[in-house]
Amino acid sequence: MHPHAPATPKYPHILHGGDYNPEQWLSYPDVLDEDIRLMTLAGINCVSLGIFSWADLEPEKDHFNFEWLDGIIDKLYKNDIHVILATPSGSRPHWLADEFPEVLRVGETGQRNIYGHRHNHCYTSPAYRERVRLIDTKLAERYGHHPAVILWHISNEFGGECHCELCQQEFRRWLKEKYKTLDALNHAWWTHFWAHTYTSWEQIHSPTWIGETAVHGLDLDWKRFVTDQTIDFMKAEISAVKAIVPELPATANLMGIYAYGVDYFKLGRELDVVSWDSYPEWHLPGKNAEIARNESLSHDMMRSIKQRSFLLMECTPSTTNWRSISKLKKPGMHELSIVNALAHGADSAMYFQIRQSRGSAEKFHSAVISHAGTENTRVFREVSEVGRMLKKLSDKVYGSASPAEVAIIFDTETKWALDKCQGPRNEGLDYFGIIQKCYDYFWKNGINTDIVDCDSSFEKYRLVIAPMLYMFRGGIQEKLRSFTAGGGVLVTTAFTGVVNDTDLCFLGEASEEKLSDVLGLWVEETDSLYTGEYNSTRWNGQSYRLSEICEIVRPVTCETLAVYDSDFYKGSPALTVNSFGNGRAYRICSTPETDFLDCFFGELAEELGLERAMNCKVPEGVSITWRENGSERIVFIQNFGDSPAELILDREYRDIFTGKTYTGRLAVEGLSSIIAVG
Ligand code: GAL
Repeated sequence: MHPHAPATPKYPHILHGGDYNPEQWLSYPDVLDEDIRLMTLAGINCVSLGIFSWADLEPEKDHFNFEWLDGIIDKLYKNDIHVILATPSGSRPHWLADEFPEVLRVGETGQRNIYGHRHNHCYTSPAYRERVRLIDTKLAERYGHHPAVILWHISNEFGGECHCELCQQEFRRWLKEKYKTLDALNHAWWTHFWAHTYTSWEQIHSPTWIGETAVHGLDLDWKRFVTDQTIDFMKAEISAVKAIVPELPATANLMGIYAYGVDYFKLGRELDVVSWDSYPEWHLPGKNAEIARNESLSHDMMRSIKQRSFLLMECTPSTTNWRSISKLKKPGMHELSIVNALAHGADSAMYFQIRQSRGSAEKFHSAVISHAGTENTRVFREVSEVGRMLKKLSDKVYGSASPAEVAIIFDTETKWALDKCQGPRNEGLDYFGIIQKCYDYFWKNGINTDIVDCDSSFEKYRLVIAPMLYMFRGGIQEKLRSFTAGGGVLVTTAFTGVVNDTDLCFLGEASEEKLSDVLGLWVEETDSLYTGEYNSTRWNGQSYRLSEICEIVRPVTCETLAVYDSDFYKGSPALTVNSFGNGRAYRICSTPETDFLDCFFGELAEELGLERAMNCKVPEGVSITWRENGSERIVFIQNFGDSPAELILDREYRDIFTGKTYTGRLAVEGLSSIIAVG
């Protein structure tokens, strides 16, 4: 019995496939037949269909044409290929924008886009919502009960914002509901500043560089509104298809940690299963391990949103075409990147795209089937190899869990607020950077880690890290307080707990709002360091460089573990700890570098006895994670370096493919992996 209910109950297996765009090839019937043969050869068991098919499904308003899709879905199913069926709202036909111009997005200066591109629609527009509801309903009625169809793919990569009059009105309504009175809004946004007090709801306009950008509360609420409006649009789509087939689960493809325009934690929680599109920039010279760490962090975040396995909805079989340089994946890299997704909780390996398009913007993006249209390509062979691997892994891995005792908080709203923040360091407060640096220690040492937000529950963790968690919102103080009191270890870094949920600074010296009781201190001043300027601290006999910001704190009950070495605050605390209830809370008062974090977390991990994938030294460039399927522990050992790495095993492991047992020394080739049970 696997810990997680299947993401795709109608077909509970690891999915292998990708975006398939037959609408581009309807006048090439031979190509469509050949596609099926090639997909079967490559071990493809599932495709995402219909993402950009609206113009072929409804070529004219209310004239639907499903015959071509009927034939394709039937043929796929006869060949054991399942379908993730998309709603086509990510891109609309010309006629729709011609008849309903309101569906097109308006930019922040008030100018409406003309037809073109994709994702160019207003989430508020009643006309767009109605046309989307109609086509979604038709699709659900026609295909929702088809045995091939296993999952809804709602739209494509939700994101972006619209500033049209409909959105402005809806934003004002959203604000009225939230604040009830203008007085409350003016206070929450601190609008007496620069005489920006609102005296009528109609004066409120979305933030724009030709208008208001100085009121940070406005900016924050606008971003929240955009997230809520996007979620509302998505939920309307989910309701349309579930009204016909309630039991068919729905996903939407997200884009990892770096796309934060929409709060993915909030949106993802509304889905049955989270999926995401991952396009790392492999082979930057000497950087594969670093890229793997960035990528793994996004995988972990996608898994943490619903605390269950996720789907890798898109990745490239070899190269993208939209980066400044389009690098091929070198031999072995494709399989390794898929293993990395599985290692962090994926239950699928899906590509963009199955067949390479012949023209337009993505014609040079790689695909399983290239323009050569044959199985005789390196990429096709490597994809087929992955297909064989996934088939063998499916029974053991699909639906298995990734247990974690450590959580790192990444909060989208803190990111939004820090992006707007003027001071203390406009040249860069690297929020992602500090999160990544904290994460890296655990990645490098085989310790599974969750990436959570302020709305998550922390009860199951032993160590919670809040790097630069500038904004305390959603009652996080109480959750962190009870986590620490209950015996947990909390680590905070500089610029944590500065403002409330409308970006108003906390007042007073020590206060519970700022978690001073838990941390045993309050922050009196925050110094910024020039780029290239450093302070330092000695801790455990070693000296460590500190950069970006240095807080000058006032200890209340905390113990000082290390002090600043220079500047006028030389001797004041750089690292503190405070006992609180059965647990303790640390403050790293500055922005430390990797060497400090590695030692600091290394000591904590040791002392707490945090569970590791293997009790052995992990060589540089190697990652080890584990999943549990109810009866077995599956260990994924991956070498992102170019040369072989050697591990000294702590016990016996059995290779999941060959059954061979490993003890003692184990060599892992460069750019390769070993998956074992043990
Ligand atoms: C994704 C998108 C796909 C395709 C792909 C190319 O972001 O969902 O439709 O454009 O990028 O890498």
